[in-house]
Amino acid sequence: MAKIEKHFQTLFECMADSIKRPTLFEKDMFLFWDDPYISKSLLAAHLNPEFDGASRKLATIKKTVNYLIKNSLLKQGDTVLDLGCGPGLYSNRFCQFGINMTGIDLSKRSIEYAQRKAKEQGLKIEYIQGSFFDINYDGMFDSVLQVYGEICTFPNEERDRLLRIIHKALKTDGLFIFDVSTRELRKREGLKNRWRFLAFRKTYCIRTGI
Ligand SMILES: C[S@@+](CC[C@H](N)C(=O)[O-])C[C@H]1O[C@@H](n2cnc3c(N)ncnc32)[C@H](O)[C@@H]1O
Repeated sequence: MAKIEKHFQTLFECMADSIKRPTLFEKDMFLFWDDPYISKSLLAAHLNPEFDGASRKLATIKKTVNYLIKNSLLKQGDTVLDLGCGPGLYSNRFCQFGINMTGIDLSKRSIEYAQRKAKEQGLKIEYIQGSFFDINYDGMFDSVLQVYGEICTFPNEERDRLLRIIHKALKTDGLFIFDVSTRELRKREGLKNRWRFLAFRKTYCIRTGI
């Protein structure tokens, strides 16, 4: 009897543990983005043109790409690094415009899709599977791009480490282009997810000591 009670006690403890709300930025034990099962549904979500989940809706992606090109923030001949590029929905489009793209993502499934699509479309893009925390580029890129609020998902120390990595990867006067979700923005937009553009020049980053 005592054995059964112990068994149920352990079971309830496990259940209670699994529904516990995680603390802010708490790390999980498994690799969410590259999990073979989850990454399958995630890729489907990325590729759904009407869904604003894993990637923005197709119309928003096209608008964002046009905006960055039209305003000469990304130009033909530029070298651009796409951090967390997913299945290459932005990189492929920028490459079609004549921008030299390098994309990096944790998800093997997304990277393989991006490579396949680039090959089919005759695009020369370097797609790398790995973590952007492990890159070590030095003054190579005119711009670094990170789309979908990824920068907001890290605790302060990790975010600062990532900013140093990005800073090192940029040429002098390079641009880091990213979107963020702020409390003010969410309040103003009524919790809608909308692309916002912010660009920090490398020189600005130096001044602020990043
Ligand atoms: C919300 S999705 C956005 C994908 C893409 N930027 C887009 O908007 O279509 C975030 C992406 O970041 C990738 N990611 C998360 N952490 C990463 C890391 N440390 N290194 C490389 N990629 C990462 C995920 O695998 C995922 O594809």
